[in-house]
Amino acid sequence: MTTVTEAPAPPGGATKGRVVGAPVDRVDGREKTTGAARYSAEYPYPDLVHAVLVPATITRGRITRIDTARASAVPGVLAVLTHLNAPRLKPVRRPTPFDLSGAVAGTPVDYLNTDEVHWDGQPVAVVVAESLETARHAARLVRVGYEEAPAAVDFTAELDHAEPDKGNPVQPGRTAKGDAPAALAAAAVSVDLSFRTPPYNHNALEPHSTTAVWDGDRLTVHEGTQNIGWLRRHLANRFGVPADGVRVVSTYVGGAFGGRFRVWAGTILAVLAARAVGRPVRLMLSREEVYRTVGGRTPSVQRVALGARPDGRLTAIVHTAVTRTGRSGGDNEPVTGVSRHQYACDNILAEQKRVRLDVLPNATMRAPGESIGTFALESAVDELAVRLDLDPIEVRLRNEPDVGPVDGKKFSHRRVREAYALGAERFGWAERDPRPGSMRDGRWLVGTGVATAYHPALMMGAQVTVRLSAGGSVLVRCGFHEFGNGAATAQTQIAAQALGVPVEAVTVEYGSSDQPTGPMGGGSMQTASVAADLLAACEKVRRSVLGLAGRSPDSPLRGCAPGDVEARDGGLFRVGRPGEGETYAEILGRAGRGEVEAAVGTGSRLAGVAGQARSFGRALRGLRSFGRAATGAQFCEVRVDSDTGEVRVSRWTGVFDIGTVVNPKLAGSQLRGGIVMGLGMALGEETLVDPRTGRIMNPSLAEYHIPVHADVPRIDVHVLDDPDPTMPLGVVGAGEVGITGVAAAIANAVRHATGRRLTELPITLDRLL
Ligand code: MOS
Repeated sequence: MTTVTEAPAPPGGATKGRVVGAPVDRVDGREKTTGAARYSAEYPYPDLVHAVLVPATITRGRITRIDTARASAVPGVLAVLTHLNAPRLKPVRRPTPFDLSGAVAGTPVDYLNTDEVHWDGQPVAVVVAESLETARHAARLVRVGYEEAPAAVDFTAELDHAEPDKGNPVQPGRTAKGDAPAALAAAAVSVDLSFRTPPYNHNALEPHSTTAVWDGDRLTVHEGTQNIGWLRRHLANRFGVPADGVRVVSTYVGGAFGGRFRVWAGTILAVLAARAVGRPVRLMLSREEVYRTVGGRTPSVQRVALGARPDGRLTAIVHTAVTRTGRSGGDNEPVTGVSRHQYACDNILAEQKRVRLDVLPNATMRAPGESIGTFALESAVDELAVRLDLDPIEVRLRNEPDVGPVDGKKFSHRRVREAYALGAERFGWAERDPRPGSMRDGRWLVGTGVATAYHPALMMGAQVTVRLSAGGSVLVRCGFHEFGNGAATAQTQIAAQALGVPVEAVTVEYGSSDQPTGPMGGGSMQTASVAADLLAACEKVRRSVLGLAGRSPDSPLRGCAPGDVEARDGGLFRVGRPGEGETYAEILGRAGRGEVEAAVGTGSRLAGVAGQARSFGRALRGLRSFGRAATGAQFCEVRVDSDTGEVRVSRWTGVFDIGTVVNPKLAGSQLRGGIVMGLGMALGEETLVDPRTGRIMNPSLAEYHIPVHADVPRIDVHVLDDPDPTMPLGVVGAGEVGITGVAAAIANAVRHATGRRLTELPITLDRLL
């Protein structure tokens, strides 16, 4: 067990002992905290100009007339781009195994290449001006006439038109094992609950921004993205230029959470505007524009019905859901996925449907599927525990599966029992009086709740190069994504350990298309994906160095096989024989070599398209062979004001199994951040959509309530630090599991405090009174 709540960094960083597992400070911490870090909208170019979007004000239809004369006449305006005069784009390509980059289009809608409007807020013009203020002012002067077409925007009203989700390779739309409806009808004890979750919007600290610079057919784009390789190819395809001429720089990214996985309007239109005016263009979305042009999370309606024997063993799980996509794009969010993995049961039915609405297509958002799916499933399990008069942890443990409940796959490892045992001890669960409303502190009703956290573990491929110099310094190059997740620091530690050098000796170049292509930064898979190929590259370097040593009769390493030596203390040494070995400086110096370099993934036939097919092969092989996941146990205490219904979360303990912990400080941050976002989902966040127009009515942080410090209690996070034997270094992703189960734990605690089962998020006071 490792406690990560208050792990201090050892002075000078972790240079002694194991580097993987040490709470090393962020390698980019100084730049970020001193303001030296440069984000996408902060790149200065001498002749830089500014672009501002003009949003459509109808829901669906066609532009019949667009009057740009007044806007164009404003001094300082360089161009007013509309569908009548904007440069033409190539259409979004259908994804193929060799080029998946079409799949990152937020929507196939061809902004400024069409007179069609597909949602309220879709950009219909772009104003480019010498100053931001001028561009903003002129954008308000553009007049647009429309012919409106019928539209469907009201999720609730359209539920009857839901169509079955066909699913995808990693997520079937329907899974049936046994006969769940019959088993439910025959069950001794059952619950049958309907849940609703609202739409949510992305609110990364840094609004989406792009600085685009053309030089002939060569393009440089400064853009915070989770997908450098795909973005690069996508832009090359759309603008009809070679991908090697497109440079994506994404060194510092102010939060992503799934909102920077796809390519949205601002990016395309900044590049388009720069093409049109022949000057570098900066386009930084306002908070409101982020809401109108960057997809958010789908709303959901879910039903979870559980049947059980009196001893609490489940006999039926039915989990159905309806979600939405845009009519003009978006993937169905896999809400019911979690019910295929969580509990042993002979009869399971998980089924999804979706409606298509004339709204901005939805996007991925932290733990798409599991975030809201666990709210329903884990609330229902809690309600079942109440009906059974059993402890909610006990009910879960009695149904803990030995193998995948549907697919029958072995778990690579699973530590849900241990997470609950440790969490219960840390949280003081045993002191709980299970009777609802039994715990009171003045006017506050106090309740406690638990829920299980779950997120699958995936991997993709990366291209990595590692160069070891005779002086003992190491340069790692891989275009992966650092958006606050700690990726750069984690890979620095992994390289330092693999080559036996101090972390200070390692430089990792990341965050741009100048480096070999990294995996996408999403699905909690980046750390393990890069680690797999980084470790392979480091192993190649070690073998090369050993080969150099072996050629010298003077080397104490002569005759050693790779397995006989280990990298430590800046060189290679015989395993178990301290002092018998040589430093890299000695070996390379004698061989007359200044450096040794190795590459992994770059020689692939598919290197030019980011090795994505190889990558997907790896992801699918992983899925086929094992049930792999990060799991955890969430414990919380809430206080409900008996007069006003106000809910405060007063205590939190989360115990997680994320395999090997590369850096407890960073992993703690990831998990804690997930819990805070879950708290927002549970108690405050909600995108309000006008049911007549589909227009988002609260596109600001004043009206869309994310948690502030006063809403967040001290969060106790623990990790079991148990390596997954099937993952590189034993690492399972930590990015998304933290948010899962959070809303359910809160709803369950509210149930305990008040006796009220709330099935609709957010749990606001009006719903409790
Ligand atoms: Mo994520 S929602 O895979 O960034």
